[in-house]
Amino acid sequence: MAHLFLLSAAGLLLSVNAQPAPSVQAGITAAIKNAANATTLDYTAFVNPFIGTDNFGDVCPGASIPFGMVKFSTDLTGYAPAGYVTDPTQFIRGLSPLHDSGTGSSLGTYGNFEIMPMTCPKGFDTCATSLNNRQRLRKLHTDLASPGYFAQTLDNNIKMEATPTRRAGLERFTFPSGSKPYFVLDLANDLPNSFAGGEMNIDPTKGQITIGGHWGSSFGPGRFNYQAFACYDLLDGGKQTLSEYGVWTADNFGLDAKGLGQTHLNLSINLIGGVYQSGALFSYDGTPEQVTIRVGVSFVSTDQACANAESEVGNSSFEDIQAAAKALWNEKLSKIEIDVPNTPANVTEMLYSSLYRASLTPNNATDETQGLFAGTSSFYFDSLYCSWDTFRTFYPLMSLHSPVEFAQIVDSYIDGWRKNGWMPECRANNLPGWTQGGSSADVIVGHFATHYHNEAAALGINLDELYAAAWTDSEVNPPEWNIQGRQSNVYKQYGYVPFAVLDVSSTGRQTREGSRTLEYAFEDFAIRQIAQVLGKTDDVALFANRSLSYRNVWDPSVVSDGFHGFAQKRYPSGKFNFTDPKHCSPVDNVTTECSLQSDNTNGFYESSSWEYSCDTGSLPHDTAHLIELMGGNATFVKRLDHFFSAGFYGAGNEPSFQTPIGYHYANHPAQSVDRVRRVVFENFDITPAGLPGNDDQAAMASLLSFHLLGFYPVPSTTQYLVLSPFIPKYTIHNSYLGTSTTVTVVGFNSKSVQRIIPPGTAAYVANVTINGVPSASRCHLDFYDTFRVGGNITITLTADKTVADDCLGALPESLSTGGFSAAR
Ligand SMILES: *[C@@H]1O[C@H](CO)[C@@H](O)[C@H](O)[C@H]1NC(C)=O
Ligand SMILES: *[C@@H]1O[C@H](CO)[C@@H](O)[C@H](O)[C@H]1NC(C)=O
Ligand SMILES: *[C@@H]1O[C@H](CO)[C@@H](O)[C@H](O)[C@H]1NC(C)=O
Ligand SMILES: *[C@@H]1O[C@H](CO)[C@@H](O)[C@H](O)[C@H]1NC(C)=O
Ligand SMILES: *[C@@H]1O[C@H](CO)[C@@H](O)[C@H](O)[C@H]1NC(C)=O
Ligand SMILES: *[C@@H]1O[C@H](CO)[C@@H](O)[C@H](O)[C@H]1NC(C)=O
Ligand SMILES: *[C@@H]1O[C@H](CO)[C@@H](O)[C@H](O)[C@H]1NC(C)=O
Ligand SMILES: *[C@@H]1O[C@H](CO)[C@@H](O)[C@H](O)[C@H]1NC(C)=O
Ligand SMILES: *[C@@H]1O[C@H](CO)[C@@H](O)[C@H](O)[C@H]1NC(C)=O
Ligand SMILES: *[C@@H]1O[C@H](CO)[C@@H](O)[C@H](O)[C@H]1NC(C)=O
Ligand SMILES: *[C@@H]1O[C@H](CO)[C@@H](O)[C@H](O)[C@H]1NC(C)=O
Repeated sequence: MAHLFLLSAAGLLLSVNAQPAPSVQAGITAAIKNAANATTLDYTAFVNPFIGTDNFGDVCPGASIPFGMVKFSTDLTGYAPAGYVTDPTQFIRGLSPLHDSGTGSSLGTYGNFEIMPMTCPKGFDTCATSLNNRQRLRKLHTDLASPGYFAQTLDNNIKMEATPTRRAGLERFTFPSGSKPYFVLDLANDLPNSFAGGEMNIDPTKGQITIGGHWGSSFGPGRFNYQAFACYDLLDGGKQTLSEYGVWTADNFGLDAKGLGQTHLNLSINLIGGVYQSGALFSYDGTPEQVTIRVGVSFVSTDQACANAESEVGNSSFEDIQAAAKALWNEKLSKIEIDVPNTPANVTEMLYSSLYRASLTPNNATDETQGLFAGTSSFYFDSLYCSWDTFRTFYPLMSLHSPVEFAQIVDSYIDGWRKNGWMPECRANNLPGWTQGGSSADVIVGHFATHYHNEAAALGINLDELYAAAWTDSEVNPPEWNIQGRQSNVYKQYGYVPFAVLDVSSTGRQTREGSRTLEYAFEDFAIRQIAQVLGKTDDVALFANRSLSYRNVWDPSVVSDGFHGFAQKRYPSGKFNFTDPKHCSPVDNVTTECSLQSDNTNGFYESSSWEYSCDTGSLPHDTAHLIELMGGNATFVKRLDHFFSAGFYGAGNEPSFQTPIGYHYANHPAQSVDRVRRVVFENFDITPAGLPGNDDQAAMASLLSFHLLGFYPVPSTTQYLVLSPFIPKYTIHNSYLGTSTTVTVVGFNSKSVQRIIPPGTAAYVANVTINGVPSASRCHLDFYDTFRVGGNITITLTADKTVADDCLGALPESLSTGGFSAAR
């Protein structure tokens, strides 16, 4: 999912005066340099949480543990879906515990329960409580973040710090000396202004404030609400004493009322709309320089929020919690160990920052379930948005080193089918979000099944249920396919999703017929893969056949820039509806609506037909036939080259992910190597603006990780395409399987690690050996021969691009050329 609304021009205004504090990058640079002589590595020291916090990367740099439900960040004005942005002209409205990272929700997501520290020199009644009055700019160049820690200083020199556990954490505020600390706690406001009623209670004796209420989805039907709760412990185990306390309510038109000594608010939804503003206001005795506040959150109740704070934080100090969070991150990050001294410093920083984000989301809300999921015995993950983004690279990366976590998330997907009838496509704020294409969850569970069917039972996954869940997505048309499942009745009837079709059995937004057909087809391939694992021969044939439906939207008569054949939307009669294949490409300045809007008549989702038609990633199961449709290998290569040079490639868009490696399928692997170098250096770097747009819940981070490691996964298969690593040597540990796989790049030359590989520099794959045995192809290898069993993969490079530009053996597999013939 890119942005729901395109916001291109505004991006140019940002990036000047960029945060964070210069010490963040200086510390990382020093840590990488010192790694040469370190006996044990602190991998968190290589992570820059600010990458992707500018240029609409929508990354949350807030303090979180791996997959934490809590991500402490400040909330800023302007376009800031994750709370924080680097833009120094935006104002801070408070620090809050719930956020998502890398989602394109244009209104923002979460940001509930904000706390804002302040001084009120003229006393309680004069405190600035409303959003507009209390907001402040930051003190420039002082923003700090590292795994498990976040800090920001306001322009009045009040410093805010936070450190997390899964569902709780500590906030620490440092005030200028001699000032009396005041705090505004916000009951109603969240980033999307979606308050639908709630309660707040102040218990002055306990020094505790509890909040609970309902809010709306950030990326789904507005009529759906979720519940959330928080518990603020104000006394730091008795080290701090409350002075004044009370409630407030305010608006931007003169309401600014305070109730000193009042302890209760119970507010209903404000049906006339607008931002409802109210909450608590309190101060401390004396002029303590530091105030520590303990926060617990829950999606179940205020009691559970308080219990979470007690059990996860207890009496621990800020330093203890921070050290524990850091240790959890080191455990995660050390699953991939690289040869730091011989790796270009920027590559080390990009890799570990990407691996960090690849374990930041989805948010683990196990035991924090509500609605249909209340009390479920399954694991539960919030913010799966969207599966359309994450099926290509995010879960495949996880499959290499973290099968236990992957299985927990798969369990949550299957539980979605048990409770809702279909697997989640785009869960946002514990609610079903908008479907992007079809049912990408099929590909995610398919990837799990192909990789871990031998271990599935031990990992808590029943493969028959997994299959039933995916089968349902394809076979059972939901009454409304905007939020789950697919428009499968008409798809099965016509062999494609027709445009302007009479559908008497279901509703949804009649858009994206071209791209939905391509995606349903690939999802059917994923179901075929699971059927194959389970030995369901008839279903293998049925779904393999259905996975070729993409051919039914291929219009060979369409010509664009001299290239023939493009996917197009099609009427039930079989007649195509022509739309210019360039529409909605990055260079299109004509088409306005390309996303989920009802007037996106383009036929494709957030992409052009050029992009989807070249998309070996939406059709990686049958690229050989796609090449034939386009006129053969030579034309296909010319077409890919033109795709990039004409500007149709969307670096920040998922359907473009695999296209740079498309050359492999036409037997030109060296050209993929050149292309991936350019893709990385033209679109990614170590700055806050270092992502080509929205991180899409680390879809982008995991794509970059694969590029740097020199592999690319074919989703729902065990095939990995071989590229040229940016790192001379690394080891991937899979502690569940008890394996470690070391990739050694013979002939690695750091001079090749740049946008254009200088002629004569070794960078192209001469051959690959796996545990001493030469690989049959230098274009691809299989999980079962490599990462699953562990050992050594040796990639020997050559400078001779001509010699290396041939797979020397089998091309990557395709159904139409007999590929994927047996499950491993
Ligand atoms: C590492 O140690 C060696 C030997 O003591 C020294 O020459 C080198 O400068 C050190 N490198 C770094 C980056 O500190
Ligand atoms: C808060 O108000 C709601 C109705 O808006 C009511 O159902 C609920 O009981 C009230 N809670 C308390 C503690 O009074
Ligand atoms: C925290 O300290 C208080 C008072 O010393 C004690 O009663 C309480 O049991 C402690 N809580 C935990 C979780 O250790
Ligand atoms: C999620 O939380 C549950 C409950 O604490 C825990 O058992 C599980 O390991 C966690 N999983 C991940 C991926 O964080
Ligand atoms: C494959 O699908 C086509 C329609 O697209 C149908 O005519 C054919 O019978 C199917 N073959 C099998 C083996 O299911
Ligand atoms: C294609 O569909 C659009 C509506 O989306 C319609 O205005 C146009 O006339 C159609 N073109 C053809 C060639 O059918
Ligand atoms: C749109 O793009 C075309 C071709 O690049 C260019 O000639 C034209 O000036 C652009 N129009 C606008 C409004 O930017
Ligand atoms: C593309 O090249 C490969 C390898 O040389 C060959 O097997 C395949 O038949 C070619 N495909 C087409 C459509 O020409
Ligand atoms: C590392 O990244 C920074 C920031 O993008 C850039 O200025 C610098 O040139 C890069 N260094 C190398 C060696 O690529
Ligand atoms: C791999 O390629 C290198 C460099 O071209 C060559 O020296 C070596 O003999 C090759 N090894 C195998 C096993 O083919
Ligand atoms: C991998 O290579 C290392 C070092 O060369 C060697 O000790 C080890 O036995 C090899 N492992 C396998 C499985 O070949």
